[in-house]
Amino acid sequence: MLWSSLLALASVAVAVSVPATYDDSTKKSSSAAPTVTFSNARRLLFDSAGQQIDAYGSKVQFFNGSYWLYGNSFNTTGSAYGINAYRSANLVDWKNQGNILDANATAYCRTVNGRCGRPHLLVDPQTGLFNLWINGGSTGYLISTGRTPAGPFTISGRATTDPAFDSLVQADFAVETIGSASYLVFSALNFRYPDAGSLWPPIQQTLHISQVTDNNTNTTGVSYPVTSAANDLIDQEAESPDIFKRGDWFYVATSTTCGYCNGSIALMYRSKSIKGPWTRQIIAADGCQSQFEGVLQLTDPSTGNINYVWHGTSGPNPLRIGWGGHIFQPLTFNSDGSVADLNCAADATFTVPYTPGSPPVTIGAALKAGDQTPANAVYSPDCGLDSFSYIQTWTASKTGTLKSVSVNVARGSQTVPLSLTVFNFTSYAQLTQPGYKYGTLGSATFNASQLGYTFGQATVATTSGIHVTKGQLLGVQVSGADFSPWCVLSYNTTGNNAGGFRQFVQGNGQNSWRGLAGKRSVVYERFGSSIKVLANYA
Ligand SMILES: *[C@@H]1O[C@H](CO)[C@@H](O)[C@H](O)[C@H]1NC(C)=O
Ligand SMILES: *[C@@H]1O[C@H](CO)[C@@H](O)[C@H](O)[C@H]1NC(C)=O
Ligand SMILES: *[C@@H]1O[C@H](CO)[C@@H](O)[C@H](O)[C@H]1NC(C)=O
Ligand SMILES: *[C@@H]1O[C@H](CO)[C@@H](O)[C@H](O)[C@H]1NC(C)=O
Ligand SMILES: *[C@@H]1O[C@H](CO)[C@@H](O)[C@H](O)[C@H]1NC(C)=O
Ligand SMILES: *[C@@H]1O[C@H](CO)[C@@H](O)[C@H](O)[C@H]1NC(C)=O
Ligand SMILES: *[C@@H]1O[C@H](CO)[C@@H](O)[C@H](O)[C@H]1NC(C)=O
Ligand SMILES: *[C@@H]1O[C@H](CO)[C@@H](O)[C@H](O)[C@H]1NC(C)=O
Ligand SMILES: *[C@@H]1O[C@H](CO)[C@@H](O)[C@H](O)[C@H]1NC(C)=O
Repeated sequence: MLWSSLLALASVAVAVSVPATYDDSTKKSSSAAPTVTFSNARRLLFDSAGQQIDAYGSKVQFFNGSYWLYGNSFNTTGSAYGINAYRSANLVDWKNQGNILDANATAYCRTVNGRCGRPHLLVDPQTGLFNLWINGGSTGYLISTGRTPAGPFTISGRATTDPAFDSLVQADFAVETIGSASYLVFSALNFRYPDAGSLWPPIQQTLHISQVTDNNTNTTGVSYPVTSAANDLIDQEAESPDIFKRGDWFYVATSTTCGYCNGSIALMYRSKSIKGPWTRQIIAADGCQSQFEGVLQLTDPSTGNINYVWHGTSGPNPLRIGWGGHIFQPLTFNSDGSVADLNCAADATFTVPYTPGSPPVTIGAALKAGDQTPANAVYSPDCGLDSFSYIQTWTASKTGTLKSVSVNVARGSQTVPLSLTVFNFTSYAQLTQPGYKYGTLGSATFNASQLGYTFGQATVATTSGIHVTKGQLLGVQVSGADFSPWCVLSYNTTGNNAGGFRQFVQGNGQNSWRGLAGKRSVVYERFGSSIKVLANYA
């Protein structure tokens, strides 16, 4: 499933990159251009408010001087529901621009339960209008038009594809402008595949390319297959494509059938013509535990070279796609046009020169929080709240009025509310002792319907006018045992603990001394771990 695109558009001040020159990635840029660093370890990404970025099967495009990230939201229903957009100038600080298409108010999307999938945009150079293409039921693709990259978008019709595929399902796709033409690459999905197995494969799907016409709103209806000479069950399981051109070569990056799973084969096809013939490569055995989603073109402003950054929606859990993240890495090209294998090393990082956008993102609690766990930590889902109450503590970094404390939480189908209490305390020695009373600064409860399926925030406002002094010990207690556990995010504090974050736990129902000597507290430290929290000061 998938998408994307870029454009050069003087009239709308869209700065983008029709490759005038192209990069030879084997020669590292020695320029002093700004760089962005991507990490294979750090997959869960957050917006400038501190909420998990809720956009899957994403594509990042450079429009009107900013990077825009589009994808399907999984926050509302736990499944794909509507389309979210995020804007960034530096590819690190992302502002949530909200849901750009109301899936429930749009008849076409409502009929497919809000699953209007794989959003991709094209810009019309003549009018400056943005055309959003969506996979939403029936044949072809829904077309909507907006005046800004954030919409609002209004559905205007359906682009049709090659009639040869009308009896199949047109599924994952991308649209992209390359030079003076735009192309649709899509998978045609056969649910009546005679060789489907009881276990697998469930379907057959093949990729096809058509040229886009009519001001970015339709296709020629003529298509060319993207298939290797093998034409085997790898070519026939291809989904979630993107297309780009580098030098003389067209590339279609894609992956095998998976649906945002823990990892599908990462494929790269190349040809000097969109009509083929295509040469296929497997560039990663399991897509570095992700499913391919798009290629982001980053231009080094000092050389004009373009880096083609492969990115995927990362698992591991196909059941909870909304807990997935994203990984990015620049592709390396060989002189024959082939692409080097991806580097899936768990701790690999990639530093890439890029053209800074503008204006910078300056709005969001995470950009100005008084105290918060590190923005760049590797966070993972932690569902221990069915067994423990979490007592997360830290040291106030400044003197001021504490306004609120937020904890990242994802809902499931809980029946028991999640309860949070913000407190101050006098010492760690006393905190774990029987009878110790902390100072309650604020509390709140949330039932499942008040929270989302991705790691947004449960925010507790403190009682008005709570004054704290720098160095004071603060904490938030999080409880809510349920058969469907509430989940928060945790990270390893070893070597990354500015702020003095320390987590304590208390087993649910455990309220008495422990141990042979009868002197072990039921409240004890979980060394080296902290949950993700953020404290706002006035
Ligand atoms: C969509 O709208 C219908 C009818 O108004 C409503 O019952 C349903 O809850 C809405 N779904 C979501 C996810 O908002
Ligand atoms: C382009 O960005 C500028 C701010 O830099 C904004 O004022 C303008 O509305 C944007 N244009 C579009 C079409 O989004
Ligand atoms: C695309 O072209 C087909 C065939 O001419 C037409 O039926 C359809 O309405 C067109 N779609 C749009 C969005 O213009
Ligand atoms: C759409 O494209 C046609 C040419 O195919 C052109 O005549 C027409 O003016 C365009 N419409 C708009 C709104 O740009
Ligand atoms: C996810 O992928 C990794 C690496 O391929 C593998 O070790 C792990 O067992 C997989 N998990 C599931 C649930 O498939
Ligand atoms: C908590 O802070 C309040 C002031 O807001 C103070 O009066 C109280 O003594 C503190 N309690 C503890 C246990 O530190
Ligand atoms: C959840 O909280 C909301 C807002 O307080 C309330 O309207 C709703 O009835 C609650 N739902 C349940 C199941 O408790
Ligand atoms: C997810 O849904 C919750 C509950 O409606 C909302 O508070 C939160 O802002 C949403 N998150 C995003 C990223 O939209
Ligand atoms: C945390 O990181 C340290 C240092 O890298 C490592 O020794 C330790 O095993 C890690 N702890 C966990 C729970 O992963």
